Amino acid sequence: MAADFEKQSYWHDRFTSETCFEWLLSSHDFMSIISPHLPRHLGPDSHVLHIGSGTSALQNHFRARGILNVTNIDYEPLAAERGRALEEEAFGDVKMTYDVADATNLQSRKRYDLVVDKSTVDAIACGGDDAVRSMARSVASCLADRGVWISLSFSAHRFDLPDLPLDVQTVAHVPTQKRHENDPDIFHYCYRLRAR
Ligand SMILES: C[S@@+](CC[C@H](N)C(=O)[O-])C[C@H]1O[C@@H](n2cnc3c(N)ncnc32)[C@H](O)[C@@H]1O
Repeated sequence: MAADFEKQSYWHDRFTSETCFEWLLSSHDFMSIISPHLPRHLGPDSHVLHIGSGTSALQNHFRARGILNVTNIDYEPLAAERGRALEEEAFGDVKMTYDVADATNLQSRKRYDLVVDKSTVDAIACGGDDAVRSMARSVASCLADRGVWISLSFSAHRFDLPDLPLDVQTVAHVPTQKRHENDPDIFHYCYRLRAR
């Protein structure tokens, strides 16, 4: 990824015109991949934190499953606007929450049963390993008992860092689409992180 991907100004400029875009995978495909790895107790009363929502419609898939306690955060305020518009377009109203927050410094007193990020960790990783460590510490501090963080990245080594406060498991290698038959195999990686 280009180094600018860690800068809020990059996302602000992008979201000025972008209204809907899915990084790495469609939200539909992402949901199919993560479904077997979601906490078994996840249900309508659960609390979900969607980090770096951008202009993705991932939150709508949780609402479609009856989970309305979804907090979408992004450090770029335009993402909240785009997220609300995508929810309203799909359901006719807005019931989920959209906040502006920095994932490397979450101040939430809420605890979440599920935290999800789809390639947000990749953008944050452009700021270096310490930024990923700060994100991991932040997420760890707001996971409920038995809570999990599911993260999708293009990197096979995204969480290969010493001193992470969470156990990391790679739960899926997702093959990317090839443009030509002889293109090499390229994968995205789905991680599940839990309290130690
Ligand atoms: C690669 S995009 C992924 C967007 C979306 N999750 C998707 O799958 O299409 C990265 C997103 O993370 C947000 N982001 C980057 N750094 C962040 C940070 N420190 N805190 C919160 N959001 C951040 C960006 O504004 C952008 O929306």
